Amino acid sequence: MSSHHPIARASLLTLAIAAALSSTPLQAADTKPAPSLSQTSAALGIPEPTVIAHRGDPFNAPESTRPAYLLARDLGADYLELDLQRTKDGQLIALHDNTLTRTTNVADVFPERAEAPVSQFTLAELKQLDAGSWFNKAYPDRARPGFKGLKILTLDEIRAIAEGGPNHPGLYIETKVPAQFPGIEQDLKRYLKDSDWIGATARSHSGSERQDSVHQDRERPSAVNVGYTPGRVILQTFEKKSLDALQQQMPNVPKILLLWGGEGSIPLEKSAPQGANETDADYYARQQVASRADYGEWLRYAKDHGAIGVGPSTVQHAHDGIFSRQFSYMELAAPWMVDMAHEHHLLVHAYTVDQSTDLDTYRQRGVDGFFTNRPAVALKRFGRTPAQSVNDLLSAYGY
Ligand code: G3P
Ligand code: CA
Repeated sequence: MSSHHPIARASLLTLAIAAALSSTPLQAADTKPAPSLSQTSAALGIPEPTVIAHRGDPFNAPESTRPAYLLARDLGADYLELDLQRTKDGQLIALHDNTLTRTTNVADVFPERAEAPVSQFTLAELKQLDAGSWFNKAYPDRARPGFKGLKILTLDEIRAIAEGGPNHPGLYIETKVPAQFPGIEQDLKRYLKDSDWIGATARSHSGSERQDSVHQDRERPSAVNVGYTPGRVILQTFEKKSLDALQQQMPNVPKILLLWGGEGSIPLEKSAPQGANETDADYYARQQVASRADYGEWLRYAKDHGAIGVGPSTVQHAHDGIFSRQFSYMELAAPWMVDMAHEHHLLVHAYTVDQSTDLDTYRQRGVDGFFTNRPAVALKRFGRTPAQSVNDLLSAYGY
């Protein structure tokens, strides 16, 4: 059978996807070499470099809210990133922090529960909160009257945003503090299946149509089509246990193990305690991984437990003041670390890189994808300058 025959093409694609998702690179017993990482990304439809909109576009709009995700989609990010948590009544929502204090007015609305975790609020209660005004106060230069009163979003609302525009980004979902939400991996699987984002008939595209979509994306480089590829969902977690649960529930969905240093994470060399006047960013920047072997152990765990890649933290060398410094962490994507991950046949999606010079630095080291708070900056740097400005888009949405 010719490899151009549709059935042969579909089988080849299936094989390539199986190889990409296999915990050991698929290598035919006889001669076939293991697929390269680029082939892994291509088989799954993950663009390279991947632009992952971290909580949407939280530089220009309140994180994890509707305008932040609309911006990320319409600017042209490949993935909408979100931190998954579960309400008291079992609804899946997006919120980064363990509590609601930083990004909502919970202290005014529910003063007796101001410090309580999300799991102690029903969705109806969360929807009473203002998740936008804090941004206007924190970043007056980017404030907009329309941000006042923005709502916390459900996973379903973010999915609808991903599906609702001319670009079709994927979803990049982190199980946040998973120990607080037993069974959330199973809930997520049920949701993604019910909404047709995973499973044999996901998003009404057969295998061969998916290949056409990937092909179509190559022909129209300005259009985002990740949402119609086999890599339309990527699951991410810092927790080994949650990686295992995700792998058990969704073995065929790509996964990334996020990397961190310290207790319960990659061991660090002993260092002096944080100084009274030392910023978190400066403190993190002087932390060192205890040994290459310790770093390698986390890579091996990722590889052996179904991950296609790792998500290391980075140091933000360039920054525009306090915003980017909040996201400057320890160096877990040094050149030898990126090389070691690639030797383990793992993709490297680094967090959270916002400035052109840092994007260049890490890209030159071979980083395959970037979580970014500034999708417009990253897209421009990678030759995919958005057609519309952030201001024009926000005005068009009515904010
Ligand atoms: O999910 C990648 C990156 O977002 C991890 O850090 O704390 O922003 O969720 P965090
Ligand atoms: Ca996250």
